[in-house]
Amino acid sequence: MKIAVVGYGGVGAAFIKLLKDQKEYINKEGIKIQVNYILNSRGGVYNPHGIDCEDVVNSFEKDITFNTIIKNKDVDLVVEVTPTNKETGQPGMTHIAKALENGMHVVTANKGPILLNYKGLNELAVKNNVELCIGCTTGGALPSINGGIMDLAGSNILSIEGVLNGTTNFILNEMEANGVDYSQALKKAQELGIAETNPTLDVEGWDTASKLLILTNVLMNQEKTLKDMNVEGITKITPEEIKDCIGENKKYKLVGKTTNENGNVKMSVKLEKLSKDHPLYNVDGKNKGVRYTSDPLGDLTIIGGASGVTPAAASILRDLINIHRGYKFSR
Ligand SMILES: NC(=O)c1ccc[n+]([C@@H]2O[C@H](COP(=O)([O-])OP(=O)(O)OC[C@H]3O[C@@H](n4cnc5c(N)ncnc54)[C@H](OP(=O)(O)O)[C@@H]3O)[C@@H](O)[C@H]2O)c1
Repeated sequence: MKIAVVGYGGVGAAFIKLLKDQKEYINKEGIKIQVNYILNSRGGVYNPHGIDCEDVVNSFEKDITFNTIIKNKDVDLVVEVTPTNKETGQPGMTHIAKALENGMHVVTANKGPILLNYKGLNELAVKNNVELCIGCTTGGALPSINGGIMDLAGSNILSIEGVLNGTTNFILNEMEANGVDYSQALKKAQELGIAETNPTLDVEGWDTASKLLILTNVLMNQEKTLKDMNVEGITKITPEEIKDCIGENKKYKLVGKTTNENGNVKMSVKLEKLSKDHPLYNVDGKNKGVRYTSDPLGDLTIIGGASGVTPAAASILRDLINIHRGYKFSR
């Protein structure tokens, strides 16, 4: 399979490294992956016979761009890992649409285009008989979206409930375990590299909201936007509230929830107290989890998956292998 990797930051570079580290497993699948392009925002590397991925850093040329890929049409699949832009979806929106229109499969980690126009992009994939895989957009290694697409096929998904953000989950656990206040717990998460220097998108609930919106639109066939959702974060939680919650034998979690009652779809992100019998009660630390209720397949809860750029890249490799195996994601 000949591929282009568009975006050579944390995830893109980890993906290229994985192709070497996981070579044995890739070979067992019977796929030969040949990387013809690696691009960043300033240019790229191109070799129609396959790039020597050991030494790309000094080989970027400014004339090699996404348009070169579209002009040459010499890859089967594009890995799109440019930054997420939730307002315009660009540059990923154009990359994904052009790749699909030109008969190339796309595997992406980029939430922007999927948030804004999954339906249109999926239609393009179907029309051009290629796959659009988005497994990395809703929790990276956690097989949340693909679990829903594959393992609830033919069932009516009635609700989606998720602890979808590892940073906020870590902060809440830290407050529970050590009795510290929110700002101390955030500081520790930043020192450990779990929270970003600017943690706003995580702690105010927007990362959870984005993932929930993708799950809702894709799995419940909706065309909702972030404006349709009530979103609250965790920044106002106090040590007293945490203590009271522990006293009730419960745990606070930032829960993204969608319910569909006879076509009335409601979405929210807010702190909830979960009791011990709730399937997401034990989703601790950086962990994530999602719970679906469906009819007639019943309840399905998926918990786990590692965090970070390498597991994110590994979830892209997983999608690529599943395309090779012949799974149909776009329908
Ligand atoms: N990091 C994670 O653990 C994780 C997990 C799940 C999903 N994601 C998603 O995966 C995507 C990539 O994340 P990341 O952490 O790798 O981001 P990143 O480190 O910021 O890397 C983004 C890369 O995209 C390149 N780029 C920007 N505009 C481009 C353009 N027009 N054409 C080609 N390349 C372009 C950048 O080039 P320059 O280097 O020249 O700026 C950079 O190499 C994001 O959408 C993110 O939301 C990340």
